[in-house]
Amino acid sequence: MVKPSVLVTRRWPAAVEAQLASQYNATFNSADVPLDAPDMRDAMAKFDAVLPTVTDKLSADVFDLRKPQAKIIGNYGVGYSHICEASARNSGMTVTNTPDVLSECTADIAMTLMLMVARRAGEGEREVREGRWTGWRPTHLVGTKVSGKTLGIIGYGRIGQEMARRAHHGFGMNIVVQNRSRVAPDVLAQCNATQVDTVEDLLPQCDFVSLHCLGGAENRHLINARRLDLMKEDAFLINTARGEVIDEWALTQALTFDTIGGAALDVFDGEPRIAPDLMQCDNLVMLPHLGSATREAREAMGFRVLDNLDDFFAGRDPRDRVI
Ligand code: DGY
Repeated sequence: MVKPSVLVTRRWPAAVEAQLASQYNATFNSADVPLDAPDMRDAMAKFDAVLPTVTDKLSADVFDLRKPQAKIIGNYGVGYSHICEASARNSGMTVTNTPDVLSECTADIAMTLMLMVARRAGEGEREVREGRWTGWRPTHLVGTKVSGKTLGIIGYGRIGQEMARRAHHGFGMNIVVQNRSRVAPDVLAQCNATQVDTVEDLLPQCDFVSLHCLGGAENRHLINARRLDLMKEDAFLINTARGEVIDEWALTQALTFDTIGGAALDVFDGEPRIAPDLMQCDNLVMLPHLGSATREAREAMGFRVLDNLDDFFAGRDPRDRVI
């Protein structure tokens, strides 16, 4: 039987690439440079499966082909707001993602960010490395206690729930949740969480707010100037979801004028470009989209794509089909 042809758009963990190469007629991107739109369109015309990730923008023009060869887009990652959903649907292509296997590691990074910003770890590290540390003193880099505080979680899917578990059972935090649908009472009960109806209900109650909702057009600038104004003036905002969820201009204003305590971001609108004004904010911690960046999660994500491909080419419905 002829093996289906697949294009992998970025370097993947070696063990997964080896497995792909043994099962499929696989083409790898050894340069690991993101494909541009014409290359991506070309890939749709040539390969049976295209395996993109968050750095690949699959906008409408990429799907604008009379007869694409690609039948499945096996996305490496849980978020797929970089894929134009309407065009994918129109083209009749199947789209899959990689949920579950990165939830714990992404929640770990959200916890890391929360602790870093509350305890001024970024500022402290910069001070030590730049040789500015003059020694211990009672008033030096005094931060905010995390234990026992109230954490608001916007988006209570798998990653949001893992975040709640860590914060509640590890740090005794009180959990308040906002989610687009009702969360089952037994799921809320696991972390003694309370669900509120709106973002407006959540923000004024919280010492920390962590974003775990979907990205894309529907949540673009969900956190805007008006909502930042609803946060307590010493509260912290954490984002491991998608950059576009926060209006970064409004966030820069809030950080510059200290209308919130600080922020910690793993994702940025238009990343890897960072808005120059954000760079000037000392009460901001920034990481380069590390949510799922552990060996365990990244391998599991790759094998999850393989499972989806195997199902698809064997005529079964892939378990992680999102379109
Ligand atoms: C995802 O999976 O959507 C992350 O942002 C990358 O791991």
